[in-house]
Amino acid sequence: MKKDRIKVLNEKIKKNYPNEKIIIGDGNLNSTIMLLGEAPGGKEIEIGKPFVGQAGKHFQEFLDVLNIKREDVYITNSVKYRPTKINARTNRISNRTPTVKEIDDFRDYIYEEISIIMPKIIVTLGNTPLRLIFKNDIKIGEVHGKLMEKEINNRNYKIFPLYHPAAIIYNRDLKDIYMEDLIKLKKELKKLQKRVDFILKRV
Ligand code: URA
Repeated sequence: MKKDRIKVLNEKIKKNYPNEKIIIGDGNLNSTIMLLGEAPGGKEIEIGKPFVGQAGKHFQEFLDVLNIKREDVYITNSVKYRPTKINARTNRISNRTPTVKEIDDFRDYIYEEISIIMPKIIVTLGNTPLRLIFKNDIKIGEVHGKLMEKEINNRNYKIFPLYHPAAIIYNRDLKDIYMEDLIKLKKELKKLQKRVDFILKRV
């Protein structure tokens, strides 16, 4: 059962990071779509779920464009604790991008999570999940909106890289590009749905 296997995996991660608050994946374990973000921020730690607060608002807009509901997808992060730094000027804690080591350390867990969920398509959000999936330095600027493939634990997965939804807050010029990518993703999802319907009709 997926539920039991995911539970075992999450317990393993928690046990291996006893000093961190771990934010586990959320949503429909049987979803055909898995969304892979970067890492939780402060709000996610507070609420205990990925993509809530401001990030959740942007994420919801993204789902609205695709015409899908949050309950219908499975959402998870590449690194499952909040990477932080101290802002030297304000002395306050803020988020930072996960290091290459942190991403490498989480790879096996995320590969296992993917093998349990077995989504038909994995939508990566930003550079961090791209590095996690492909184990190299491909940059989102080079591959956004292009359907890719990756073999993970002996199974081929479709990977659709998108900019991180938060990136468009800092760079408004990306908004149009982001919308075009979402339209391409929508077409890919339609194709997948047709294939699923076709297979269902045959059985
Ligand atoms: N919140 C998350 O859970 N993941 C992100 O990548 C950003 C915000």
